[in-house]
Formats: sequence, structure tokens, C-alpha cells
Amino acid sequence: MRSSDAHISQGPEGQWLLSGGGLSCGLHVAGDGLLSLIYLGPRVEDIADLPPLRPAPHRSLSIARGGRDDRHLNYRPQLYPGTGRGDFRLPALAVTYDGGTSTDLRVTDITVSETKPALAGLPSARGDKSASLTITMEDRVAGLRVDLVLTVYSGISALTRSATITSMGDTAIEITRAASSVLDLPPGDWRMLTLGGSWAREFTEHQNLVSPGRMTVSSNRGLSGAAHNPVLALMEDGAGEGHGHVIGSALLYSGNFEISVERSEFDDIRLWMGINPEGFAWSLAPGETFACPEVVHVVSDTGLAGMTAEFHRFVRRHIVPQHWAAKPRPTYINSWEACYWDVDLAKIGALATAGTELGVDMLVVDDGWFRGRTDDKRALGDWDADPVRFPGGLAALGDTVRAKGLALGIWVEPEAVSPDSDLARAHPDWILREVGRTPSLGRNQLLLDLSQLAVVDHLFNALDTILRDSGAVYLKWDCNRYMTEYGAPEVPHRYMLGLYTLLARLRAAHPELLLECCASGGARFDLGMLAYADQGWLSDMSDPIGRLDIQSGAFRFYPPSTAAGYIGPSPGHQTNRDTPMLTRLAVASLCAARGISLSLDELRREAETLKDAVQHWRGTATLPVTGTYARCLHTADETLWQLTADDRRTVLLVYCVRTALPNAPYRRVRLKGLLDGARYRSDRDGALYSATRLMTVGFDLPMRDAMTPKGGGDLMPYGDKVAAIIQLSANSAAGGPDTSSS
Ligand code: DGJ
Repeated sequence: MRSSDAHISQGPEGQWLLSGGGLSCGLHVAGDGLLSLIYLGPRVEDIADLPPLRPAPHRSLSIARGGRDDRHLNYRPQLYPGTGRGDFRLPALAVTYDGGTSTDLRVTDITVSETKPALAGLPSARGDKSASLTITMEDRVAGLRVDLVLTVYSGISALTRSATITSMGDTAIEITRAASSVLDLPPGDWRMLTLGGSWAREFTEHQNLVSPGRMTVSSNRGLSGAAHNPVLALMEDGAGEGHGHVIGSALLYSGNFEISVERSEFDDIRLWMGINPEGFAWSLAPGETFACPEVVHVVSDTGLAGMTAEFHRFVRRHIVPQHWAAKPRPTYINSWEACYWDVDLAKIGALATAGTELGVDMLVVDDGWFRGRTDDKRALGDWDADPVRFPGGLAALGDTVRAKGLALGIWVEPEAVSPDSDLARAHPDWILREVGRTPSLGRNQLLLDLSQLAVVDHLFNALDTILRDSGAVYLKWDCNRYMTEYGAPEVPHRYMLGLYTLLARLRAAHPELLLECCASGGARFDLGMLAYADQGWLSDMSDPIGRLDIQSGAFRFYPPSTAAGYIGPSPGHQTNRDTPMLTRLAVASLCAARGISLSLDELRREAETLKDAVQHWRGTATLPVTGTYARCLHTADETLWQLTADDRRTVLLVYCVRTALPNAPYRRVRLKGLLDGARYRSDRDGALYSATRLMTVGFDLPMRDAMTPKGGGDLMPYGDKVAAIIQLSANSAAGGPDTSSS
């Protein structure tokens, strides 16, 4: 069957070939229903080009499943492997049923469809122009059925997967491990790239050789967390930035997750992704089903750069809500680093006046606006405007901001509750905690139990009222506490189901709302949240030098269209480091949502520069939204990012240097994806460059010579922490001499 270039076909000997964009996935179903993965990689058109099923010969110490000599599962490349039958690698499932713990799933049915089956209660990629294969597997001894859905997408080298488990027996089944995806990949010296860190240094890249044994990134914090992001790239031996075979993977999930890579005794690689089994258990009564979160895998044969491009296109087309997906985002002033909790109507009015003068579109009132919220010790949960600091309530706040010609945005932290709040006093039973234990505090707060419907209802009404009363068009949805003392082992996942229900209800009631997710910065920035949120706050690190690694890491998987960044104070509140305004502007320019968070004094002092900044953002607003991102250079000292407009006629280059290097070498960097035959004029020196010159010979990095007071060619200030923003525009009249020297 065909849906555009998303294509699924069946071969004569149990093979199945799924292809979409530049990806193909080959499966094999044996006569006894054993399911194997025989290929995942660049597209092959002919099913005959798939490799045969690898032999799984007897070896010393191997176990023949069911006594059959040709069924040594430990060497079979599988897609949803069982346990306790001779495969000693990480199993897809760990269950206990009446009579045993081993699992042995066999294919009983396969269907193909052009409509992607829904995944109950969980975020899932939109299936426009896709083809899906539903593979039903059963283990009659265990009383289990698993429905695997594999989907390929037209024009994108992506494969999504989900697994839904159904109990078919007469007694309950206890699940303690349930994979969303398992991929068995060929043996070799694969490297793995992961993203992680901590508060204010999220998304830092780590690359490691996959060595024998298991390597895991995970969260057991209730949120996907800042320590490890739920993404991973596997790079085949020799793959690098722009070459080689890479498989990039991400979970559409915002809670406890595990991503493990196992290198077996025969160097086979098994990738395991799903809910973190640590502390997890789920009891499945007869007839009940359990849906595992969806996973996306993308395939690139042009290294990490190709993986990034596929991820960005996939997230924009199939993950983020569509209303804002291709629209420029409002520029804004955010009150947080300007005022922290010290906000009132007069201060917000003054910030709004400053915002009008600078030309921004929106004023975001961050934390501190609600009843009694004067610091982080109280009031979370009491979601009405503080009557003393905001007389006239949210309506007056909205009117004040709109009277200055700005839209209103507002901050909330719906899932949290302060012990010192009316909500906590009225509904102690709504709070996550365990009997007999004094609740632990994180930022002086607790979490509500979103697994309870009453809590979800309450929060929906509270959020809906805030939006209606204030007329806010933007919501920053924060969450500043990890989960502890949650009681039963199924609660963290039930909490996620409640959270997604709440987000879905809010989206349905306010489809045009601009929703930004945040969790102390980037502690819950994942494809699960981005299925509901238009953008996310990457990090509380607002010092631009601290943000270079964060943005470079995040943009490996998440497109700039999903990122928010602002010009923060100098010295930076997180680093106490002074940075030039141009560097702060340059780094924020890579994000679709661009703002300013400075005190009134700083706003006034820097007014002229900030007006220019806002103008610059207006002129380049679509670039991070619909343009193409490329990391041209990112080292410990230098970063060059490229954003290229959809029509490839405008290019924004942001070049940042951390430390001045005297007598620096002269260098060129090749740009990517320009319009063949076009000539580009640089707005900085007026030089005209052919696309070939820029892509093949390279773009001359601005000179930075600490011995020359002005910096070579006036292109770059000299010193530490400096940046240059360069815009290249294709000449409408083609031709003309290349005035640059080469
Ligand atoms: C953490 C966020 O990351 C900040 O941007 C800010 O909104 C604070 N919370 C407010 O409490």
C-alpha cells in the first residue's frame, strides 16, 4: 500500500519492508511467529535488497528455545524480545503471571493502514501522510497480547513505535518492565550521544563508545529531568558531524524513563527505550490494556547533521501543535529577572510602558502575581491575583498591559502546591505524600496528585479562569519540583496520564494559546510536552556564554522553533559574568521566542540598543520558526550557528567567541544548504559571495585579533565573550562578480 512515499510491502518469505523519506525498516516473521528486525537504515526500494535473517547457530552455553536448534534467541536481532527463554539481554517485558515470569511473544496478526492508530491517553505523533503496520503478538502461556504499531512518514526518515499490552488471561498480570521500543542493531563500535547536565546547564552533550555491558540514561524524578534528556543518538563506527550512519531516538514522554544501550558478548547492540522500570509496577486485570509511550527513531546517512535535520522537520510537522508551528512568535519582556517576586500593577505597568517604547509585542508576568506569593515559600495553588498588589485582579492586569498596546502573557505552576496555601489546607488529600512521613520539600513546595481526576478538573478550571479573566494569550507552564513520596509504583505514570489529559483539555479549550513549557528551565523539555506546548524554556541560564553548549545540545534534536531565549542581565545572575549586549542578543536570536528580562533601570539605560535588537528580531522572526538550522562550528571556544530561510535567500549567522585568542589563526567554515547559483550580500561588509564560495570554499570567520584594537575588518569586537551577527541576502539579480577574495 502507498501513502505518498510512505510505503509498506510484504515479501514472499516472511519479510516486511517499511519505508518513508530516506528510511527503511525490514522485519522478518518466521513460520512460528518469531519477529526479527533485519534492517534499519537508509531507504532500500526493493524488498529483495533486505538482508536475510541472520543465522542463530548453536554456541556453547546457548539455550535452544523450546528445544529447537535453530532458535537461539540470544543472537536473534529482535523487535520486542521476551525473557526467560534464552535471550539474556534486556527484555522488552518483565511480567509476573499465574505460573511464571518468562515471556515468548509470537506474531498472530499483521495489518497495514494509512490511518495511524490512536495511542490512548498519551502524546503521539500526528499521522498525516503516513503508513502504519500493526503487529499483534501473543503469548498464550502468559495470557498476554502486545500490539506494536510501527509508522513511517512521507518525506521524513522517521519511524515511530508504540506498544500496547493487553491481559488475556483469567488473573491479573503484574508488569514491572515494559519497553516502548527495542531495536537490535548490527555489531560494531557504535558511539552514543546523550544530552544532560543539571539546572542551568541542561542539554550538555556527551559522547561515549558503547562498551560491553549496559549504558543507561534515565530519570526516576517524576519529570524527564535536567540530568538526562530522553533522547539518544547511536553513531555507527566512524560516523561524525556530516557523514556516516546515525540513528537518533526520542521518547514522547515527560516522566520517568530509561534509555539503555547494551553491547552483548557478540558485540550486538540492543537499544531499549521506555518507562523507567525502577520503582515501576502496573497491575493489569483480565481484559485491561496498558499503553507504552511512543518513540521516534530517525535515520541519517549524513551523520549527526542529517539526524538533526530529520528531527527538526519531524517535530515541526508531526509533534508540535499546528496553530503556532509556522508563525513568528511575539517578542516579549518577561518580569522574572527584572523583578523576581517583587511584582505589582505599577511595576508591570512601567515594564509595559518600556516594552511599548522598545517595540515588543507582549509583556509576560512571571512568578509572584497571585495571592500571597511574595517569595518561594508560599501561595502556590491559590491562583487568583494578589488583591493588594494587583487591585482589580487579573482583568485590571490584562487591561493595564493591553492599554500600552501589548499582549499579556502569564506564568503558572499548576502542578505544585505550597504547604502554606489555602489549597493545601482545603485539600490535603490532593497532595502527593505518604502516610507516616513528613513530606520532603523541593523549593519549599509539594506536588499535587494529578492521577486524581478531581485534581485535573480543579486545575483545568483554575487555568481556564486565569486565561479568561486576564485575556492572556500566552502561558508559561512551569514545574519546579521533582517527585518524591508518591506511594504506589504506578502513580508516577498515572500522574503523567493526568498531566497529558489536563494539557489536552487546555489545548482544546484554547487552541490559539501560545503555550511554553518550563521546569526550572529545561528539566521537562521533551517531545511529550512539545506535543502540547508550542515552545519551551530551555534553561534558566540566561548568560549567553553559558547558553552556547545548552542551545547547541538542545538543537541536536529540538528545532529552534520550539525554543525560547531572552536577553538577561549582565553580570548574569547565574554566573556573575559580564557579557556584551550584542552577545546576549545574538544567542537569543537563535530561538523562535525572543524576549528581554531586564530591570527597568537596565531597560532605560540600554533602550536604544534594545530597540535595535527588537527591530532585528522582527526582521528575522521567521528564520528560527520555519528556517533550517545548522551547527557550522561548536568547540570549547567558538560557535557558529546558521539559520537559513525557507526559500534559502536569507541567512542569519551567529558567531560567538568565549575567550580572546591573541594572534588568532585565520579560518573559513563551510555554510550549508544555500541556493545554488545565488550570490549573497553580507550586511556587514557589503561583500558579495557566491553560494559555491560559501558552501565549498567557506565563509571567512570574522577576524578577531586581540592585538588590533578594533578587530580585523571591523567585523568583530575583540575580547572575551564577543559575538557577531551577520545576515546574508541573496541578490535578486543573479550574477555579478564575486567581490570576496578567496
Ligand atoms: C523557574 C523558571 O525556569 C524561571 O524562568 C522562572 O519562571 C521561575 N521558575 C519562577 O519561579
